[in-house]
Amino acid sequence: MSLDVVILAAGQGTRMRSTLPKVLHRLAGKPMVRHVIDTARGLEAERTHVVVGHGAEHVREALADCRLRFALQAEQKGTGHAVAQTLDALGDGKVLVLYGDVPLTRRETLRELIQAVDEQHLGLLTVTLEEPNGYGRILRNAAGEAVAIVEHKDASEAERTIRECNTGIMAMTAAQLRRWLPRLSADNAQGEYYLTDIIAMAAAEGVKIATAQPARPLEVEGVNNRAQMARLERAHQADIAEALMAQGVALPDPSRLDVRGTLTCGHDVEIDVGCVFEGEVELGEGVRIGPHCVIRDSHIGAETVVEPHSVIEGAVAAGHNRIGPFARLRPGSRLAVGARVGNFVETKNAEVGEGSKINHLSYVGDARLGRDVNVGAGTITCNYDGANKHHTEIGDGAFIGSNTALVAPVSVGKGATVGAGSTLSRDVADNALAVSRARLVTKDEWQRPVKHKDY
Ligand code: UD1
Ligand code: CA
Repeated sequence: MSLDVVILAAGQGTRMRSTLPKVLHRLAGKPMVRHVIDTARGLEAERTHVVVGHGAEHVREALADCRLRFALQAEQKGTGHAVAQTLDALGDGKVLVLYGDVPLTRRETLRELIQAVDEQHLGLLTVTLEEPNGYGRILRNAAGEAVAIVEHKDASEAERTIRECNTGIMAMTAAQLRRWLPRLSADNAQGEYYLTDIIAMAAAEGVKIATAQPARPLEVEGVNNRAQMARLERAHQADIAEALMAQGVALPDPSRLDVRGTLTCGHDVEIDVGCVFEGEVELGEGVRIGPHCVIRDSHIGAETVVEPHSVIEGAVAAGHNRIGPFARLRPGSRLAVGARVGNFVETKNAEVGEGSKINHLSYVGDARLGRDVNVGAGTITCNYDGANKHHTEIGDGAFIGSNTALVAPVSVGKGATVGAGSTLSRDVADNALAVSRARLVTKDEWQRPVKHKDY
């Protein structure tokens, strides 16, 4: 049977106190609803429907790159009403109902639920909680079969002592939904069309309710405020850290790591505290990352050491590199084996050859450096003329003295030497010396001015 996934995301999320629709708030760098969409994608759903309402346009825009069908629920009249907005677009197979603000459900948990579904069975995910206040409670008959859900606000004192709760996540056939949803009534404490009322309808028809539980309550936890958001974030990050350690990564404090994307590590990688990884990051074998580094969409080759407080984006380090402290590698930075980029150095769209060094206080952008080049402190590639960017080329073994300005386009030949303080506006031949420096003047009989004393 085909599968349709319906993700409810029309609610307002008032308690976030935000202009951003709730489901777009980020968990591990990704909007919550995208976690749910990615989970659904792994289930190989034929169609994924997102029911939008509050901030509908904003949500549609934020998900424009996903293959989705949007259903507009203009007025929020309850979860049953929300699912009903997708009825016309559903296929003829199974339907799984998920929530845009419940981001951490495991695929295996959902597979189990879906498998249980046929015309005689409905799948319901329940969770037993110490604090069931606010949740719908699962009513079971004498035989122990689930037969209804009663919402907290509609429940009697006795029913409120039940600790088995509705997670909201359930699976059924489209035919069942088409039969039951039109029969929902809003005659209840909240005046809403409750999706949960289909459980009693199913039971009355003799359709069995197959209940399943998540491995951990975290999987079905929803987000209503920023505190819950932060709690889920930390729990999710703890899982990521745990998985990295299981793969052989050393983390002196797993609670001080943030991965907002995918981090792939070789053996014996060490990541010190306070680092943030974004997008796709790959760390080769034996890489050491010092404290408080931010690394995004980069590949750091084996045995490289990244010293503290470095910020690296869109860069490739081939291996055995030394980067930082306080280095900034911007997109297109490519370090060959053994190249070094030291403190307060910024590189962008720059190839740095094998064994070359840019150790202090420099900007190297739109440039190619050969091997064993030494770039002195304070060297700047003047790559921008106010309108266009220009290229700088530095040959193998060249020596660039401190405080040199390379006015691009310009090239420095192999083995050439540039004297400190030079402004290079012409190419330098191989093995030549280039110095452009005002002549030094010294005055031996110099009297330093003295301050006038006024009375
Ligand atoms: C719902 C369940 C309750 C369950 C609880 C778990 C119902 C009637 N109750 O209650 O049994 O224990 O979830 O958290 O289903 N939504 C819409 N449109 C609407 C109403 C809701 O899209 O008209 C979305 C919300 O954005 C939210 C989700 O559905 O993501 C749940 O809605 P909410 O109002 O929070 O339901 P609860 O009262 O928590
Ligand atoms: Ca809720």
